[in-house]
Amino acid sequence: MEIKENYNIQHLNSFDIKVDAKYFTKVASILKLQEAIGFSEQYNLSVLILGGGSNLLFTQDFQGLVVKINLKGISLRKEDENHFYVKACAGENWDDFVKFCCDSGYYGLENLSLIPGNVGASPIQNIGAYGVELKDHFYELEFYDFATRKIRNYNNSDCNFGYRNSIFKNELKQKGVVLSVTFKLDKIPKFKTGYGAIKEELDRMEIIKLTVKDIRNAVINIRRSKLPDPEEIGNAGSFFKNPVVSNEKHSELSKRFSELVSFKQQNGTYKLAAGWLIDQCGWKGYRKGDAGVHKNQALVLVNYGKTSGNEIVKLSKEIMHSVNQKFGVELEREVNVV
Ligand code: EPU
Repeated sequence: MEIKENYNIQHLNSFDIKVDAKYFTKVASILKLQEAIGFSEQYNLSVLILGGGSNLLFTQDFQGLVVKINLKGISLRKEDENHFYVKACAGENWDDFVKFCCDSGYYGLENLSLIPGNVGASPIQNIGAYGVELKDHFYELEFYDFATRKIRNYNNSDCNFGYRNSIFKNELKQKGVVLSVTFKLDKIPKFKTGYGAIKEELDRMEIIKLTVKDIRNAVINIRRSKLPDPEEIGNAGSFFKNPVVSNEKHSELSKRFSELVSFKQQNGTYKLAAGWLIDQCGWKGYRKGDAGVHKNQALVLVNYGKTSGNEIVKLSKEIMHSVNQKFGVELEREVNVV
């Protein structure tokens, strides 16, 4: 196992924040992972597990051991009449995996095209986009538990999936590592085109006979037009979650703001579009130094070059404050601040 000291991890976080890890290692096998955890225990170091680094904001150098998960491999585990069960190791790039599934006739993940990050992180926040969440096609995962040093399988209900949430953000936070995820994918595609932006894009594309690849292309077109490419401008996707409010709060707001963008939930509450709330407070396109709010999607905070994590956090607090003043709604960060 090769451990690097005072290692620059700027290229390993999509916000492109310049920070060092006191110790850094890459692991491509479970054995190497065990060695890395052993090293952290021996020297009493805190551990940060790094996947694609696309949902993180560093505000300081990390004083412990950063472990970059490089476990690779995709395999078809089994099939039944209607489904393929496809296993992907944690270090596989998410969108490469989605493309592989679309090309192989394993359907269901196409609406989740082009989401940055790796497979291992996808269940942690139950990634979702354009009317589909990971949990809709999740079968099970393998989790390496630091305390017992054993691998345990978690099925869909074990994971307590919710909107951008799971057991791995709560009870199991920092308790272990996701090693692989197995997805339950359809043999016959079920097109999910209900989300407004997808419908519009498919109309624009003038598709005659819809295929899964068209859906993937539509999602890619929408994301490219609205969301900044982390290769070009540092960012971590949506910085905040869409807040959920009660029926009463929703009625009060819709009386005051006729254009309010909201989605009714099954339990009678409403999810508000945080991007709309932030936009209404005048933040879209704002820039101070190198920290800013993206010009096409107010939910995304960006690093134009050399900003620090603390500058981004400061900006996020100002945004949260102004949304609270105008709408009486508390925004919650989606990105993990380290
Ligand atoms: N809106 C504005 N101004 C803005 C941004 C949005 O008015 O600056 C309005 C839009 O017009 C639209 C509504 O808000 O009516 C919703 O916008 P959008 O469809 O872009 O989706 P979102 O709610 O802002 C969520 C996810 C995204 C995901 C999209 C599409 C969260 C926190 N974000 O964003 O996920 O791609 O839906 O499904 O749930 C991510 O997690 O990093 C991410 C990009």
